[in-house]
Amino acid sequence: MMSILQISWLALAIPAAFAAPAHKDKTTTVKPVKRVQLGPRPYWLVDQMEDGPLKKRLASCSEMEMKPTAWSISHRGGGVLQFPEETYASIMAGTRMGAGIQECDVTFTKDKQLVCRHDQCDLHTTTNVVSIPSLNAKCTTPFKPATNSSSADATALCCTSDFSLAEIKTLCAKMDAANQNATTPQEFLTGTPAYRTDLYAKTCGPVLTLKEFISIVDGLGLRFTPELKTPRVPMPFPAGSNYTQTAFAQQMIDEFKAAGVSPKRVYPQSFLYDDILYWLKAEPAFGKQAVLLDERADYEGMEVAIAALPTYARAGVKIVAPPLPYLVSVDKKGKIVPSLYATTAKKLGLKIITWSLERSGWLSDQEHGGYYYASIASVIKREGDVFNLLHVLAQDVGVLGIFSDWSATVTYYANCFGLVF
Ligand SMILES: *[C@@H]1O[C@H](CO)[C@@H](O)[C@H](O)[C@H]1NC(C)=O
Ligand SMILES: *[C@@H]1O[C@H](CO)[C@@H](O)[C@H](O)[C@H]1NC(C)=O
Ligand SMILES: *[C@@H]1O[C@H](CO)[C@@H](O)[C@H](O)[C@H]1NC(C)=O
Repeated sequence: MMSILQISWLALAIPAAFAAPAHKDKTTTVKPVKRVQLGPRPYWLVDQMEDGPLKKRLASCSEMEMKPTAWSISHRGGGVLQFPEETYASIMAGTRMGAGIQECDVTFTKDKQLVCRHDQCDLHTTTNVVSIPSLNAKCTTPFKPATNSSSADATALCCTSDFSLAEIKTLCAKMDAANQNATTPQEFLTGTPAYRTDLYAKTCGPVLTLKEFISIVDGLGLRFTPELKTPRVPMPFPAGSNYTQTAFAQQMIDEFKAAGVSPKRVYPQSFLYDDILYWLKAEPAFGKQAVLLDERADYEGMEVAIAALPTYARAGVKIVAPPLPYLVSVDKKGKIVPSLYATTAKKLGLKIITWSLERSGWLSDQEHGGYYYASIASVIKREGDVFNLLHVLAQDVGVLGIFSDWSATVTYYANCFGLVF
Protein backbone atom coordinates (compact mmCIF):
# COMPACT_ATOMS: atom_id res chain seq x y z
CA MET A 1 0.00 0.00 0.00
CA MET A 2 2.72 2.40 1.05
CA SER A 3 4.73 1.80 -2.11
CA ILE A 4 1.70 2.29 -4.37
CA LEU A 5 1.03 5.60 -2.71
CA GLN A 6 4.63 6.62 -3.15
CA ILE A 7 4.55 5.72 -6.83
CA SER A 8 1.41 7.74 -7.45
CA TRP A 9 2.88 10.76 -5.65
CA LEU A 10 5.98 10.45 -7.79
CA ALA A 11 3.86 10.37 -10.92
CA LEU A 12 2.21 13.59 -9.79
CA ALA A 13 5.50 15.24 -9.03
CA ILE A 14 6.91 14.64 -12.51
CA PRO A 15 4.91 16.78 -14.94
CA ALA A 16 3.40 14.47 -17.54
CA ALA A 17 3.38 15.71 -21.12
CA PHE A 18 0.18 17.49 -22.00
CA ALA A 19 -2.24 15.71 -24.28
CA ALA A 20 -2.44 17.05 -27.83
CA PRO A 21 -4.49 20.26 -28.06
CA ALA A 22 -8.16 19.38 -28.10
CA HIS A 23 -9.63 22.11 -30.26
CA LYS A 24 -13.09 20.69 -30.59
CA ASP A 25 -15.68 23.32 -31.19
CA LYS A 26 -17.92 22.60 -28.23
CA THR A 27 -19.56 25.97 -28.35
CA THR A 28 -22.29 24.96 -30.78
CA THR A 29 -23.64 22.22 -28.51
CA VAL A 30 -23.88 24.12 -25.22
CA LYS A 31 -27.34 24.07 -23.65
CA PRO A 32 -28.62 25.52 -20.38
CA VAL A 33 -27.67 23.56 -17.26
CA LYS A 34 -30.95 22.66 -15.59
CA ARG A 35 -29.79 20.71 -12.59
CA VAL A 36 -27.45 22.73 -10.40
CA GLN A 37 -25.17 20.67 -8.15
CA LEU A 38 -23.04 22.19 -5.44
CA GLY A 39 -20.84 19.22 -4.52
CA PRO A 40 -19.74 18.58 -0.94
CA ARG A 41 -17.78 21.78 -0.26
CA PRO A 42 -20.48 24.21 0.95
CA TYR A 43 -21.94 21.50 3.22
CA TRP A 44 -18.48 20.83 4.63
CA LEU A 45 -17.92 24.56 5.18
CA VAL A 46 -21.19 24.82 7.13
CA ASP A 47 -20.01 21.89 9.23
CA GLN A 48 -16.80 23.81 9.97
CA MET A 49 -18.66 26.83 11.38
CA GLU A 50 -18.85 27.77 14.99
CA ASP A 51 -22.20 26.76 16.52
CA GLY A 52 -24.76 29.56 16.44
CA PRO A 53 -27.85 30.88 14.64
CA LEU A 54 -26.13 31.34 11.25
CA LYS A 55 -24.77 27.81 11.23
CA LYS A 56 -28.18 26.49 12.21
CA ARG A 57 -29.91 28.44 9.46
CA LEU A 58 -27.39 27.38 6.81
CA ALA A 59 -27.52 23.74 7.94
CA SER A 60 -31.32 23.83 7.62
CA CYS A 61 -30.88 24.39 3.86
CA SER A 62 -28.84 21.24 3.30
CA GLU A 63 -31.61 19.33 1.50
CA MET A 64 -32.83 22.25 -0.61
CA GLU A 65 -32.93 22.03 -4.37
CA MET A 66 -30.39 24.60 -5.49
CA LYS A 67 -31.09 27.10 -8.29
CA PRO A 68 -28.74 29.24 -10.37
CA THR A 69 -28.55 32.90 -9.34
CA ALA A 70 -26.97 36.08 -10.64
CA TRP A 71 -25.89 36.80 -7.04
CA SER A 72 -23.27 34.10 -7.67
CA ILE A 73 -20.80 35.54 -10.18
CA SER A 74 -18.16 33.27 -11.63
CA HIS A 75 -14.61 34.52 -11.21
CA ARG A 76 -12.53 33.35 -14.20
CA GLY A 77 -15.22 30.74 -14.93
CA GLY A 78 -16.13 29.89 -11.34
CA GLY A 79 -14.26 26.58 -11.14
CA VAL A 80 -10.81 28.03 -10.46
CA LEU A 81 -10.13 26.00 -7.29
CA GLN A 82 -9.88 22.91 -9.47
CA PHE A 83 -10.10 23.78 -13.19
CA PRO A 84 -7.74 25.84 -15.37
CA GLU A 85 -9.17 29.36 -15.28
CA GLU A 86 -11.03 31.08 -18.15
CA THR A 87 -11.59 27.81 -20.00
CA TYR A 88 -14.66 25.93 -21.15
CA ALA A 89 -14.11 23.49 -18.25
CA SER A 90 -14.02 26.27 -15.65
CA ILE A 91 -17.13 27.93 -17.11
CA MET A 92 -19.01 24.63 -17.08
CA ALA A 93 -17.92 23.91 -13.50
CA GLY A 94 -19.02 27.36 -12.31
CA THR A 95 -22.29 27.03 -14.19
CA ARG A 96 -22.99 23.58 -12.75
CA MET A 97 -22.43 25.21 -9.33
CA GLY A 98 -25.10 27.80 -10.03
CA ALA A 99 -23.22 30.89 -11.22
CA GLY A 100 -25.70 33.15 -13.01
CA ILE A 101 -23.15 35.59 -14.43
CA GLN A 102 -20.01 34.40 -16.21
CA GLU A 103 -16.73 36.27 -16.47
CA CYS A 104 -14.20 36.57 -19.29
CA ASP A 105 -11.19 38.80 -18.73
CA VAL A 106 -10.69 40.35 -22.13
CA THR A 107 -7.28 41.03 -23.59
CA PHE A 108 -5.85 41.16 -27.12
CA THR A 109 -3.45 39.18 -29.29
CA LYS A 110 -0.74 40.54 -31.56
CA ASP A 111 -3.26 40.49 -34.43
CA LYS A 112 -5.82 42.32 -32.24
CA GLN A 113 -8.14 39.41 -31.61
CA LEU A 114 -9.87 39.31 -28.21
CA VAL A 115 -9.18 36.35 -25.92
CA CYS A 116 -10.04 35.43 -22.33
CA ARG A 117 -7.01 35.62 -19.99
CA HIS A 118 -6.91 37.15 -16.57
CA ASP A 119 -3.85 39.21 -17.42
CA GLN A 120 -2.43 40.22 -20.76
CA CYS A 121 0.87 38.79 -19.51
CA ASP A 122 0.03 35.55 -17.72
CA LEU A 123 0.51 32.98 -20.49
CA HIS A 124 3.69 31.73 -18.77
CA THR A 125 1.68 30.79 -15.66
CA THR A 126 -1.70 29.85 -17.20
CA THR A 127 -0.54 27.85 -20.26
CA ASN A 128 2.31 25.55 -21.35
CA VAL A 129 3.84 28.22 -23.61
CA VAL A 130 7.36 28.09 -22.10
CA SER A 131 7.62 24.38 -22.93
CA ILE A 132 7.20 25.03 -26.68
CA PRO A 133 10.62 26.35 -27.78
CA SER A 134 9.45 28.20 -30.91
CA LEU A 135 6.76 30.07 -28.95
CA ASN A 136 8.81 30.56 -25.79
CA ALA A 137 11.32 32.41 -27.97
CA LYS A 138 8.61 34.97 -28.86
CA CYS A 139 7.73 35.79 -25.23
CA THR A 140 8.42 39.32 -23.95
CA THR A 141 10.87 37.53 -21.61
CA PRO A 142 11.50 33.90 -22.60
CA PHE A 143 11.90 31.30 -19.83
CA LYS A 144 15.12 31.65 -17.85
CA PRO A 145 15.92 28.70 -15.55
CA ALA A 146 16.71 29.07 -11.86
CA THR A 147 20.40 29.24 -11.00
CA ASN A 148 19.85 26.08 -8.99
CA SER A 149 16.89 24.22 -7.57
CA SER A 150 16.67 26.33 -4.41
CA SER A 151 17.41 29.80 -5.75
CA ALA A 152 13.79 30.59 -6.74
CA ASP A 153 14.85 32.92 -9.56
CA ALA A 154 13.36 31.24 -12.63
CA THR A 155 11.51 33.83 -14.73
CA ALA A 156 9.40 34.28 -17.86
CA LEU A 157 6.91 36.84 -19.11
CA CYS A 158 4.62 35.83 -21.94
CA CYS A 159 1.84 38.12 -23.12
CA THR A 160 -1.11 37.51 -25.41
CA SER A 161 0.16 40.49 -27.41
CA ASP A 162 3.37 38.52 -28.15
CA PHE A 163 1.41 36.02 -30.26
CA SER A 164 -1.11 35.71 -33.07
CA LEU A 165 -4.45 34.13 -32.22
CA ALA A 166 -3.44 31.08 -34.32
CA GLU A 167 -0.37 30.62 -32.11
CA ILE A 168 -2.36 31.04 -28.89
CA LYS A 169 -4.82 28.42 -30.08
CA THR A 170 -2.02 25.80 -30.02
CA LEU A 171 -1.49 26.30 -26.28
CA CYS A 172 -2.89 24.21 -23.43
CA ALA A 173 -4.43 26.03 -20.47
CA LYS A 174 -3.17 24.94 -17.04
CA MET A 175 -3.65 25.89 -13.42
CA ASP A 176 -2.33 29.40 -12.75
CA ALA A 177 1.04 28.81 -11.12
CA ALA A 178 4.79 28.66 -11.72
CA ASN A 179 7.66 26.94 -9.95
CA GLN A 180 10.32 29.57 -9.51
CA ASN A 181 12.92 26.96 -8.56
CA ALA A 182 12.53 25.39 -12.01
CA THR A 183 15.71 24.53 -13.87
CA THR A 184 13.73 23.26 -16.90
CA PRO A 185 10.65 24.64 -18.73
CA GLN A 186 8.67 21.51 -17.74
CA GLU A 187 9.39 22.17 -14.06
CA PHE A 188 8.27 25.78 -14.47
CA LEU A 189 4.79 24.50 -15.34
CA THR A 190 4.35 23.03 -11.83
CA GLY A 191 3.77 24.89 -8.57
CA THR A 192 -0.03 24.68 -8.22
CA PRO A 193 -0.85 25.57 -4.60
CA ALA A 194 -1.75 22.59 -2.42
CA TYR A 195 -5.32 23.84 -1.84
CA ARG A 196 -5.94 23.57 -5.59
CA THR A 197 -5.33 20.55 -7.83
CA ASP A 198 -3.91 19.53 -11.22
CA LEU A 199 -6.53 16.79 -11.50
CA TYR A 200 -8.31 18.45 -14.45
CA ALA A 201 -5.30 20.19 -15.96
CA LYS A 202 -3.76 17.57 -18.25
CA THR A 203 -6.36 17.44 -21.01
CA CYS A 204 -5.35 20.60 -22.83
CA GLY A 205 -8.28 22.96 -22.74
CA PRO A 206 -7.64 25.72 -25.29
CA VAL A 207 -7.58 29.44 -24.57
CA LEU A 208 -11.01 30.84 -25.49
CA THR A 209 -11.69 33.80 -27.71
CA LEU A 210 -14.24 36.35 -26.49
CA LYS A 211 -16.46 35.21 -29.38
CA GLU A 212 -16.34 31.62 -28.13
CA PHE A 213 -17.03 32.77 -24.58
CA ILE A 214 -20.09 34.72 -25.75
CA SER A 215 -21.36 31.74 -27.70
CA ILE A 216 -20.90 29.33 -24.74
CA VAL A 217 -22.50 31.62 -22.16
CA ASP A 218 -25.31 32.55 -24.55
CA GLY A 219 -25.95 28.82 -25.07
CA LEU A 220 -26.07 28.41 -21.29
CA GLY A 221 -28.63 31.23 -21.12
CA LEU A 222 -26.59 33.16 -18.54
CA ARG A 223 -25.42 36.77 -18.18
CA PHE A 224 -21.96 38.07 -19.04
CA THR A 225 -19.37 40.12 -17.22
CA PRO A 226 -16.45 40.84 -19.55
CA GLU A 227 -13.56 42.74 -17.99
CA LEU A 228 -11.51 44.99 -20.23
CA LYS A 229 -8.05 44.12 -18.89
CA THR A 230 -5.73 47.05 -18.40
CA PRO A 231 -3.16 46.68 -21.22
CA ARG A 232 0.43 45.82 -20.25
CA VAL A 233 1.72 47.33 -23.47
CA PRO A 234 1.60 51.05 -24.29
CA MET A 235 -1.50 52.05 -26.25
CA PRO A 236 -1.99 52.51 -29.11
CA PHE A 237 -0.60 49.07 -29.97
CA PRO A 238 1.60 49.13 -31.89
CA ALA A 239 2.78 52.71 -31.42
CA GLY A 240 1.30 55.06 -34.02
CA SER A 241 -1.51 52.66 -34.99
CA ASN A 242 -5.23 53.30 -34.61
CA TYR A 243 -5.57 50.55 -31.94
CA THR A 244 -6.11 52.95 -29.06
CA GLN A 245 -7.57 52.21 -25.63
CA THR A 246 -11.00 53.39 -26.81
CA ALA A 247 -10.77 51.22 -29.96
CA PHE A 248 -10.10 48.26 -27.64
CA ALA A 249 -12.99 49.25 -25.33
CA GLN A 250 -15.30 49.60 -28.34
CA GLN A 251 -14.16 46.30 -29.87
CA MET A 252 -15.23 44.43 -26.73
CA ILE A 253 -18.73 45.90 -26.88
CA ASP A 254 -18.92 45.37 -30.66
CA GLU A 255 -18.44 41.61 -30.21
CA PHE A 256 -21.54 41.46 -27.97
CA LYS A 257 -23.51 43.53 -30.46
CA ALA A 258 -22.38 41.34 -33.36
CA ALA A 259 -23.57 38.28 -31.42
CA GLY A 260 -26.97 39.92 -30.90
CA VAL A 261 -26.68 39.90 -27.10
CA SER A 262 -28.97 42.32 -25.26
CA PRO A 263 -27.01 44.92 -23.25
CA LYS A 264 -29.26 44.02 -20.31
CA ARG A 265 -27.36 40.74 -20.04
CA VAL A 266 -23.91 42.36 -20.04
CA TYR A 267 -21.97 43.92 -17.14
CA PRO A 268 -18.74 45.30 -18.66
CA GLN A 269 -16.00 45.89 -16.07
CA SER A 270 -12.77 47.88 -15.94
CA PHE A 271 -10.28 49.18 -13.40
CA LEU A 272 -9.81 52.21 -15.65
CA TYR A 273 -12.30 54.97 -14.85
CA ASP A 274 -11.85 56.36 -18.37
CA ASP A 275 -13.11 53.10 -19.87
CA ILE A 276 -16.33 53.40 -17.85
CA LEU A 277 -16.73 57.06 -18.86
CA TYR A 278 -16.20 56.03 -22.49
CA TRP A 279 -18.92 53.38 -22.35
CA LEU A 280 -21.32 55.74 -20.56
CA LYS A 281 -20.94 58.18 -23.44
CA ALA A 282 -20.42 55.98 -26.50
CA GLU A 283 -22.45 52.91 -25.51
CA PRO A 284 -24.93 54.05 -22.85
CA ALA A 285 -27.01 50.86 -22.94
CA PHE A 286 -23.89 48.94 -21.92
CA GLY A 287 -22.46 51.78 -19.81
CA LYS A 288 -25.55 51.76 -17.61
CA GLN A 289 -24.48 48.38 -16.26
CA ALA A 290 -20.73 49.02 -16.32
CA VAL A 291 -18.80 48.01 -13.23
CA LEU A 292 -15.97 50.21 -11.96
CA LEU A 293 -13.41 47.93 -10.35
CA ASP A 294 -11.83 49.83 -7.50
CA GLU A 295 -8.53 48.87 -5.88
CA ARG A 296 -7.50 52.46 -5.35
CA ALA A 297 -7.11 52.10 -1.58
CA ASP A 298 -4.30 49.58 -2.20
CA TYR A 299 -2.21 52.33 -3.77
CA GLU A 300 -3.53 55.61 -2.42
CA GLY A 301 -5.11 54.67 0.88
CA MET A 302 -8.72 54.15 1.96
CA GLU A 303 -9.46 57.84 2.56
CA VAL A 304 -8.64 58.70 -1.04
CA ALA A 305 -10.71 55.76 -2.29
CA ILE A 306 -13.75 56.82 -0.24
CA ALA A 307 -13.37 60.48 -1.19
CA ALA A 308 -13.52 59.53 -4.89
CA LEU A 309 -16.89 57.76 -4.63
CA PRO A 310 -19.07 60.91 -5.04
CA THR A 311 -17.21 61.75 -8.26
CA TYR A 312 -18.02 58.36 -9.72
CA ALA A 313 -21.68 58.63 -8.70
CA ARG A 314 -21.99 62.12 -10.25
CA ALA A 315 -20.45 60.88 -13.50
CA GLY A 316 -23.16 58.26 -13.84
CA VAL A 317 -21.33 55.18 -12.58
CA LYS A 318 -23.95 52.81 -11.19
CA ILE A 319 -21.88 49.90 -9.87
CA VAL A 320 -18.56 49.91 -8.01
CA ALA A 321 -16.61 46.73 -7.34
CA PRO A 322 -13.99 46.90 -4.61
CA PRO A 323 -12.24 43.81 -3.21
CA LEU A 324 -13.84 42.10 -0.18
CA PRO A 325 -11.72 43.74 2.54
CA TYR A 326 -12.81 47.28 1.53
CA LEU A 327 -16.39 46.49 2.50
CA VAL A 328 -16.07 45.13 6.00
CA SER A 329 -14.37 45.87 9.28
CA VAL A 330 -14.54 44.55 12.84
CA ASP A 331 -16.28 46.53 15.59
CA LYS A 332 -15.27 46.76 19.26
CA LYS A 333 -17.27 43.66 20.11
CA GLY A 334 -15.49 41.61 17.46
CA LYS A 335 -18.43 41.63 15.07
CA ILE A 336 -17.97 41.94 11.30
CA VAL A 337 -19.73 45.14 10.17
CA PRO A 338 -19.97 47.24 6.97
CA SER A 339 -16.97 49.54 6.49
CA LEU A 340 -17.04 53.28 5.90
CA TYR A 341 -16.41 52.55 2.21
CA ALA A 342 -19.53 50.39 2.11
CA THR A 343 -21.79 52.82 3.96
CA THR A 344 -20.54 55.76 1.87
CA ALA A 345 -21.13 53.94 -1.43
CA LYS A 346 -24.63 52.95 -0.31
CA LYS A 347 -25.54 56.51 0.73
CA LEU A 348 -24.50 57.67 -2.72
CA GLY A 349 -26.84 55.11 -4.30
CA LEU A 350 -23.98 53.13 -5.80
CA LYS A 351 -24.59 49.43 -6.18
CA ILE A 352 -21.80 47.13 -5.04
CA ILE A 353 -20.28 43.97 -6.47
CA THR A 354 -17.23 42.46 -4.78
CA TRP A 355 -14.33 40.03 -5.40
CA SER A 356 -13.15 37.35 -4.90
CA LEU A 357 -14.31 34.63 -2.58
CA GLU A 358 -12.65 31.17 -2.44
CA ARG A 359 -9.30 32.57 -3.61
CA SER A 360 -7.55 32.51 -0.27
CA GLY A 361 -6.76 28.86 0.38
CA TRP A 362 -7.14 28.00 4.04
CA LEU A 363 -8.74 30.41 6.49
CA SER A 364 -7.75 28.43 9.58
CA ASP A 365 -3.98 28.84 9.29
CA GLN A 366 -1.77 31.76 10.38
CA GLU A 367 -2.61 33.82 7.30
CA HIS A 368 -6.29 34.05 8.30
CA GLY A 369 -7.24 34.27 4.61
CA GLY A 370 -4.55 36.80 3.58
CA TYR A 371 -5.38 39.80 1.37
CA TYR A 372 -9.08 39.14 0.89
CA TYR A 373 -9.73 38.91 4.63
CA ALA A 374 -7.18 41.55 5.68
CA SER A 375 -9.68 43.93 7.30
CA ILE A 376 -11.32 41.17 9.38
CA ALA A 377 -8.32 38.87 9.98
CA SER A 378 -8.71 39.15 13.77
CA VAL A 379 -12.00 37.21 13.64
CA ILE A 380 -11.12 34.70 10.90
CA LYS A 381 -10.19 31.40 12.49
CA ARG A 382 -12.17 28.62 10.84
CA GLU A 383 -12.78 27.47 7.28
CA GLY A 384 -16.50 28.01 7.89
CA ASP A 385 -15.94 31.71 8.70
CA VAL A 386 -16.35 32.38 4.97
CA PHE A 387 -20.11 32.32 5.66
CA ASN A 388 -19.80 34.98 8.39
CA LEU A 389 -18.32 37.28 5.75
CA LEU A 390 -20.96 36.35 3.16
CA HIS A 391 -23.73 37.00 5.70
CA VAL A 392 -22.60 40.59 6.38
CA LEU A 393 -22.06 41.28 2.68
CA ALA A 394 -25.56 40.01 1.92
CA GLN A 395 -27.58 41.34 4.85
CA ASP A 396 -25.76 44.50 5.99
CA VAL A 397 -23.83 45.72 2.95
CA GLY A 398 -26.47 44.48 0.50
CA VAL A 399 -24.13 43.63 -2.36
CA LEU A 400 -25.55 42.94 -5.81
CA GLY A 401 -23.35 39.89 -6.33
CA ILE A 402 -20.06 38.23 -5.42
CA PHE A 403 -17.29 36.89 -7.62
CA SER A 404 -16.04 33.50 -6.52
CA ASP A 405 -13.36 31.02 -7.57
CA TRP A 406 -15.71 28.19 -6.55
CA SER A 407 -19.27 29.22 -7.30
CA ALA A 408 -20.96 26.61 -5.08
CA THR A 409 -20.21 28.45 -1.85
CA VAL A 410 -21.93 31.68 -2.89
CA THR A 411 -24.76 29.79 -4.60
CA TYR A 412 -25.46 27.84 -1.41
CA TYR A 413 -25.73 30.98 0.70
CA ALA A 414 -27.88 32.72 -1.94
CA ASN A 415 -30.35 29.84 -2.17
CA CYS A 416 -30.56 29.49 1.58
CA PHE A 417 -31.36 33.21 2.02
CA GLY A 418 -33.61 33.65 -1.01
CA LEU A 419 -31.15 35.66 -3.12
CA VAL A 420 -32.16 33.86 -6.29
CA PHE A 421 -32.68 36.06 -9.34
C1 LIG B 1 12.54 26.98 -3.73
O1 LIG B 1 13.51 27.90 -3.29
C2 LIG B 1 13.16 28.56 -2.11
C3 LIG B 1 14.17 29.67 -1.86
O2 LIG B 1 15.46 29.18 -1.77
C4 LIG B 1 13.09 27.54 -0.99
O3 LIG B 1 12.70 28.19 0.21
C5 LIG B 1 12.06 26.48 -1.34
O4 LIG B 1 12.05 25.46 -0.39
C6 LIG B 1 12.35 25.88 -2.70
N1 LIG B 1 11.25 25.02 -3.08
C7 LIG B 1 11.41 23.79 -3.50
C8 LIG B 1 10.16 23.05 -3.87
O5 LIG B 1 12.50 23.27 -3.63
C1 LIG C 1 21.82 28.44 -5.29
O1 LIG C 1 21.56 29.80 -5.59
C2 LIG C 1 21.50 30.62 -4.45
C3 LIG C 1 21.01 32.02 -4.87
O2 LIG C 1 21.27 32.27 -6.21
C4 LIG C 1 22.87 30.64 -3.78
O3 LIG C 1 22.80 31.45 -2.60
C5 LIG C 1 23.23 29.21 -3.39
O4 LIG C 1 24.55 29.19 -2.84
C6 LIG C 1 23.18 28.30 -4.60
N1 LIG C 1 23.37 26.91 -4.16
C7 LIG C 1 24.18 26.08 -4.81
C8 LIG C 1 24.21 24.68 -4.27
O5 LIG C 1 24.83 26.40 -5.79
C1 LIG D 1 -7.75 50.86 -38.09
O1 LIG D 1 -7.07 50.69 -39.29
C2 LIG D 1 -7.34 49.48 -39.98
C3 LIG D 1 -6.49 49.43 -41.23
O2 LIG D 1 -5.14 49.59 -40.91
C4 LIG D 1 -8.81 49.38 -40.31
O3 LIG D 1 -9.09 48.13 -40.91
C5 LIG D 1 -9.63 49.55 -39.05
O4 LIG D 1 -11.00 49.61 -39.37
C6 LIG D 1 -9.25 50.81 -38.30
N1 LIG D 1 -9.93 50.81 -37.02
C7 LIG D 1 -10.47 51.90 -36.47
C8 LIG D 1 -11.11 51.72 -35.14
O5 LIG D 1 -10.43 52.98 -37.02
